[in-house]
Amino acid sequence: MPSIVVLGTQWGDEGKGRIVDLIASRTDLVVRYQGGNNAGHTIVTDGKKIILHHVPSGILRENSLSLIGNGVVIDPKVLVAEIDALRSAGYPVSPSNFLISERAHVIMPYHREIDLLREKRRASGRKIGTTGRGIGPVYEDKYARRGIRMLDLTEPEAFRNRLVSVMAERNAYIEKVLGAESLDPERVYEEYVGYGEVLRPFISDVSAIVRRSGDEGKRILFEGAQGSLLDIDFGTYPYVTSSNAGLGGVFSGTGAVPALISSIVGVAKAYTTRVGEGPFPTEESGEIQDALRREGEEYGATTGRSRRCGWLDGVALNYALRTNGVTAIALTKLDVLSGFEKVKICTGYGYNGSVTKEFPASLSVLESCEPSYEEMDGWDEDLAGIKSAEHLPPNALRFVKRVEELTGVPVWIVSVGPQRDMYLELRDCVVSR
Ligand code: IMP
Repeated sequence: MPSIVVLGTQWGDEGKGRIVDLIASRTDLVVRYQGGNNAGHTIVTDGKKIILHHVPSGILRENSLSLIGNGVVIDPKVLVAEIDALRSAGYPVSPSNFLISERAHVIMPYHREIDLLREKRRASGRKIGTTGRGIGPVYEDKYARRGIRMLDLTEPEAFRNRLVSVMAERNAYIEKVLGAESLDPERVYEEYVGYGEVLRPFISDVSAIVRRSGDEGKRILFEGAQGSLLDIDFGTYPYVTSSNAGLGGVFSGTGAVPALISSIVGVAKAYTTRVGEGPFPTEESGEIQDALRREGEEYGATTGRSRRCGWLDGVALNYALRTNGVTAIALTKLDVLSGFEKVKICTGYGYNGSVTKEFPASLSVLESCEPSYEEMDGWDEDLAGIKSAEHLPPNALRFVKRVEELTGVPVWIVSVGPQRDMYLELRDCVVSR
């Protein structure tokens, strides 16, 4: 079956949105499988920047149906605003090209409140650095079986009853544990039942569409948010998000079955960034970090926070490729490395007098690892406009080849500039034009 997963192999912000945007021109459906509006995909099209938080990037392609799977958590207020923004930018959004799973959970105001209050209360050094969008609390409620699903917003009476009982519990927590004021269930009800009305035409059985499309041999693209080092199970726990950003999320978050999938594309930036707290072995300081941030415009699409920057971490990348069964790499932002006299790739972690290539589960081990680097000569040329490997500066091509050697996974796409068409394909290994 010719379906593809696109997922991040670092701590998010790898440039998945533009890879999805590119592949979506060759597929029939795009389905997002986890996360919420903690994600922000920036896409540059016709010189205009569009930031998508909920709607899959496939919406920008005329031929594609965009779906939000049950594993996603939705802030309906944000989604409604996003649909309006897309429409005014000239992208028609309607139930004929966009649908939401009836089973997706709703981010409620108390989730945002709890997220923000908790972060504020955490002592410095113990903060997660969440995006403050209510992501942890909404997934918590999902697994505690007190969540509100999109479907509930369209069934007013049952919704009211459920909301009153859930909010009694959540309000007690907000007041007694977090020491803040409780929220009024009636106001929340009025507002959210309104979103239910607006979004009703989009709410559907997405898993059935995925299954049917698979049976019909359609090409489906499964779009991940965040990155696998932020995965709740395989990431740098507890400095992670609250969903399975990695491969597992595809199945639980859309109803797809493994036999549908033919390729798993791991998106990796040519260097590494992280936003929020948590260990980051190859983090740089000083001029290198500043230059990567400046040249790569490394500021969060969702929160505007400066991203922490450092060299490509081959140990973390290999771990992410392995835990997700990645079959091809999309290497993004290679152009950002232009102008560095030397470029580096971390090939091992020094710990306790020896060097390991394994990515440790222990935070304290990870925090005390010393990256060992391989240094390569850099290049000065501007890469924008290069469309084939033989036109890349030799040192840039050497860098790409070295990534392939160190990981054993072919590099399929290399992006070389911010515009939609600034990329090259090194081989036809995933889905041809
Ligand atoms: P949360 O997902 O808002 O709970 O945040 C948990 C951690 O994941 C924080 O370190 C966030 O900065 C990080 N995070 C969440 N979403 C993204 C993303 O889309 N890109 C990069 N980091 C993210």
